[in-house]
Amino acid sequence: MRLQGRVAIVTGGAGGIGKETAELFAREGARVAIWDFDDSGSEVAAAIAKDGGQAIFVKTDVSRAEDVEQALEKTEKDLGPVEILINNAGITRDGFLTKMDLENWQKVMDVNLTGIFNCARVVAPGMMERQSGVIINSSSVVGVYGNVGQTNYSATKSGVIGMTKTWSKELGKKGVRVNAVAPGFVATPMTDKVPEKILDKMKGSTPLGRLGQPRDIAQAYLYLASEEASFVNGAVLQVDGGLVL
Ligand code: CAA
Ligand code: NAI
Repeated sequence: MRLQGRVAIVTGGAGGIGKETAELFAREGARVAIWDFDDSGSEVAAAIAKDGGQAIFVKTDVSRAEDVEQALEKTEKDLGPVEILINNAGITRDGFLTKMDLENWQKVMDVNLTGIFNCARVVAPGMMERQSGVIINSSSVVGVYGNVGQTNYSATKSGVIGMTKTWSKELGKKGVRVNAVAPGFVATPMTDKVPEKILDKMKGSTPLGRLGQPRDIAQAYLYLASEEASFVNGAVLQVDGGLVL
């Protein structure tokens, strides 16, 4: 029970990596708030409760600052002061540079970059006051190396690394650790949209010879959230089977 009694927010917890993380954190004793705009987050919370864990679903669009403020109010009222923020929600809108319209550029900025900023900005003051907290942001292998068809997405995932390192400096001295996880290609609804040919190419370029599973990333979040990582701050943990794009 590495997170016994701790209050954790998991954004994007209705599906993919976030769902796996919410379930794993609850099994490790955390009281989990699932922030997602997809109503199926309530089924994830119900399944956790059925297994003896504690979780609530708070319908939230992380790209909207007012949603996020209300979500924090509800979370702290129901569960208590937030100690862990897993900034996991993210989207893709892939296309070559020359075919990418401004709408798809902006949408990805709004969720992957502004969404992470919105959540950290409301949660950080309480953590700083209590001199204790952990924020973990979702980057990507694509934010480190770039990827064909992902101008918008790779820009946000590189930006997440910049924000992580900045916040680790700003908040570290207030007892709050901030780190990022940079996954490789992981089998979730997000990668279901990627052409098979490209996924095969990614597997071929991965020394471990497979795609990641949501659990691989949830375990990395767990490590960084736990006391085992008490001296880890400003790190970007690559969890990608050794993939270099
Ligand atoms: N590497 C090398 N070549 C690539 C490539 C890649 N990753 N992706 C596409 N190409 C090549 C294609 O093979 C094709 O080559 P030819 O013209 O010689 O046949 C050329 O680029 C054009 O490709 P398409 O015909 O597919 O062009 P399109 O305009 O219909 O689509 C695209 C372009 C949207 C980029 C599409 O190829 C695509 O969806 N690619 C996958 C992008 C991707 O990897 N997304 C990851 C999403 S999951 C995620 O983002 C999670 C994470 O963090 C890793
Ligand atoms: P997914 O698409 O399976 O799940 C994303 C979840 O986020 C969904 O439940 C969705 O409803 C929610 N979400 C999307 N926009 C939201 C918003 N504005 N507000 C609230 N919730 C929102 O994606 P997956 O694969 O689980 O990805 C999770 C994170 O990991 C993302 O940030 C993604 O960019 C990142 N990542 C994923 C990789 C992969 O290969 N699957 C690789 C590297 C990073």
